[in-house]
Amino acid sequence: MHPELQHELDIFERRTPKSAEAHKKNLKRIPLGVASNYRAYDPYPIFVEEAQGSRFRDLDGNEYIDHNLCFGALMAGHCHPAVMKAVEKRLHTGTMFGMPHNMEWELAEEICSRFRVESVRFGSSGTEATMHAVRLARAATGRDKIIKFEGGYHGLHDSALVSVKPHAPDFGDVHDPAQVPGGLGVPKAAVANVQVATFNDLATVELRFKQNPGEIAAIILEPIMMNVGLCMPQPGFLKGLRELCTKHRTLLIFDEVKTGAKLGWGGASEYFGVTPDMICLAKSIGGGFPLAAFGTHRSVMDLISQHKVFHGGTYNTNPVSMAAGLATFREVLTRDNYAHVDKLSKKLVDGYKKIVAKSGLQAYVASAGANGALMLYPKEILNYRDWITVDTDLWRHYWFGMVNRGVMCQPYWWDEQWTISVQHTEADIDKHLAAFDEVAPGLAKAQQERGAAVVAVH
Ligand SMILES: Cc1ncc(COP(=O)(O)O)c(C=O)c1O
Repeated sequence: MHPELQHELDIFERRTPKSAEAHKKNLKRIPLGVASNYRAYDPYPIFVEEAQGSRFRDLDGNEYIDHNLCFGALMAGHCHPAVMKAVEKRLHTGTMFGMPHNMEWELAEEICSRFRVESVRFGSSGTEATMHAVRLARAATGRDKIIKFEGGYHGLHDSALVSVKPHAPDFGDVHDPAQVPGGLGVPKAAVANVQVATFNDLATVELRFKQNPGEIAAIILEPIMMNVGLCMPQPGFLKGLRELCTKHRTLLIFDEVKTGAKLGWGGASEYFGVTPDMICLAKSIGGGFPLAAFGTHRSVMDLISQHKVFHGGTYNTNPVSMAAGLATFREVLTRDNYAHVDKLSKKLVDGYKKIVAKSGLQAYVASAGANGALMLYPKEILNYRDWITVDTDLWRHYWFGMVNRGVMCQPYWWDEQWTISVQHTEADIDKHLAAFDEVAPGLAKAQQERGAAVVAVH
């Protein structure tokens, strides 16, 4: 570990003793001391006391500008007034029915008028949305296999937990990536049904179609791969996938759990001008409450109507989440708010670029819609294999340096990215940039000194 990182970690530990103590307590009963593996990091995670707007406070009373925003699920920001008002009203009129109600068609209309789908069903998490989308695609095509991209994350069901973060000894040739289970407990049969391709490489997709003629039900992908920082589809890639899917009668599933709300009004299909057969939505559509949806053509959804594919869930369309979702679509994800976030994003990205250039840091800034990331690479990454070359200690230096200056610049983990909420202000961005301006020179110096050593490790 380089001394500047050690220095930032020392400051972190001095600032957050109550989080250290709380984490110790959690560890006694909860694996890793956290409720989701993604929340665990060394030396211990920050424990939150409360949040409001663009900021949160930890147990020790430190305040942070929040660009983590629950792993990107809060484009609304914390406690958005319109969402809170809608939810508070619902809290007194029944929180669960397990029976239909009027907000269902209202939200379905909102989704179908904004995204290119004819029919939707609701759930509570992104995992559910992608799981049901994959099952529907299998049912609609009568085929079992799907194609996913190495490094892509689509939640925690068996079909999604393949080649999420495979290690170099296991992952094979980049032109023919191996199928690697994402941990123990994923059945071999599930892995065998997930064909793995390389993002931004249509030849690997064509290879999978050739090797599995008439057997591929769907291609599932995030249109912008956001499990490796922020990796943009190169020109022609999404269109190429669309054409291959049409040719092979395979369904194209856009996992828009992140991009759906945050890329812009109409999500990735509008942004890139490519129409998938199915979309999966979650995270930011709920405005801070658990809400997910999957949508597709009526002809595919008819399989549910005909009781041929089963979909259910006790928590589906619970009125609190639905009220939050309606308020989010109508009063948060508005064209005016997208313009506000775009303006802040431009300011943040331009500011980062200037500081990167001034400091001599070898890095670039990736951004799309409300999301962005400092990418510590000499040139743009195109896929998962490019991403794994990151200098993780250097990234930790950046993250802890920012956190110690009151800016949670993104969730912990170098595979994540920042989110700008509709409640962030120009002043928040100024503070974010001021913190980065302080951190960047030390980061650049450490990068130069570590350069040779890190190349040797990789
Ligand atoms: C692209 C994508 N798909 C699916 C999921 C799973 O969503 P959830 O955590 O709500 O199950 C995530 C979560 O990070 C995601 O980023």
